[in-house]
Amino acid sequence: MRTMVTGGAGFIGSTLVDRLLAEGHEVDVVDDLSSGSLANLAEARAAGGRALTIHQLDIRLPDTEDLIVRRRPAVIFHLAAQIDVRVSVDQPVLDADVNILGTLRVLEGARRAGTDRVVFAASGGTLYGEVDPVDLPVRESHPTRPLSPYGVSKKAVIDYLAAYREMHALEYCALALGNVYGPRQDPHGEAGVVAIFAAALVEGRPVTVFGDGEQTRDYVYVDDAVDAFARAATRGGGLVCNVGTGQETSVNDLYRTMAAVAGVDAEPVRAPARPGELRRSALDAGRAAIQLGWRPWTSLADGTAAVIEHTRRRLATPAPRRRPPARRAASPGAG
Ligand SMILES: NC(=O)c1ccc[n+]([C@@H]2O[C@H](COP(=O)([O-])OP(=O)(O)OC[C@H]3O[C@@H](n4cnc5c(N)ncnc54)[C@H](O)[C@@H]3O)[C@@H](O)[C@H]2O)c1
Repeated sequence: MRTMVTGGAGFIGSTLVDRLLAEGHEVDVVDDLSSGSLANLAEARAAGGRALTIHQLDIRLPDTEDLIVRRRPAVIFHLAAQIDVRVSVDQPVLDADVNILGTLRVLEGARRAGTDRVVFAASGGTLYGEVDPVDLPVRESHPTRPLSPYGVSKKAVIDYLAAYREMHALEYCALALGNVYGPRQDPHGEAGVVAIFAAALVEGRPVTVFGDGEQTRDYVYVDDAVDAFARAATRGGGLVCNVGTGQETSVNDLYRTMAAVAGVDAEPVRAPARPGELRRSALDAGRAAIQLGWRPWTSLADGTAAVIEHTRRRLATPAPRRRPPARRAASPGAG
């Protein structure tokens, strides 16, 4: 099958590319490399041969539509996005430009190319807003109340997908992802608390936890998330499906789990809570189980151990820095 992965040089996208190539699909990657990198595609380039083509391109450009029409992918996995909630608060126009208008370029290309289906990386951590604890883990039937421009732009795309299905018979599946973690996640960003913890623990630096550390998230391992994408290529049409474990994990528990794996017994440094963060989050993935046949199978201990191992290897062979390191934040991010 001919596939396209927007954001395919990113953390989740590149892991999906590896999976699609392993299954024998042809893959076109579209990525402007703004936060992703070709290094993430090194294994794919070695293994993929002519099945992999990389296009360095901004999805906001008209060229994106033309490329899709030329390449005619049967399935587009749409992951390219402005992913930072804080950037979306500071620059909501930029967020909407990439996440809404850029997506419309992709959808217009898909419509013109006769693409069968778009599988979209939606955000389970922001879609539902602050959920009453009695409703956790949250189901897809829960009202959607995103509290950030990022959450709004991701929700808007789901509405566009439903409209394109009606208007143009373009099938879709929107995966409402929990906090995805795993190797290749950027430890310099704001969202990837597992990557940030791993880098600090391996380098022997102190980890700062904001607030009381009892804020919870649903952490899902990247290979499990990618498995949901692969399944959604043929199943779950016209649906939003949560992709999470249903388990709430606090930042304190996450730190304890990872510190034990890394062999560190130091306590984290405490800092004042950051305003605007969700208190609790967990996703009920019952629909994904029924509709996609999907279940998470990686425990937090195994998944975080894989990240720490990956971080050790990465730091043993230093790569050139893509950008100056940002403040190591230990807030859990949005998901
Ligand atoms: N990581 C998570 O926990 C999580 C949770 C919910 C949803 N998501 C969504 O999953 C997708 C992938 O996230 P990720 O964590 O792998 O982030 P990432 O930053 O590693 O991947 C995003 C990719 O999109 C590319 N990109 C950004 N703007 C682009 C543009 N204008 N044109 C072309 N390419 C562009 C980046 O270079 C990057 O490679 C995103 O849509 C994100 O919103 C992620």
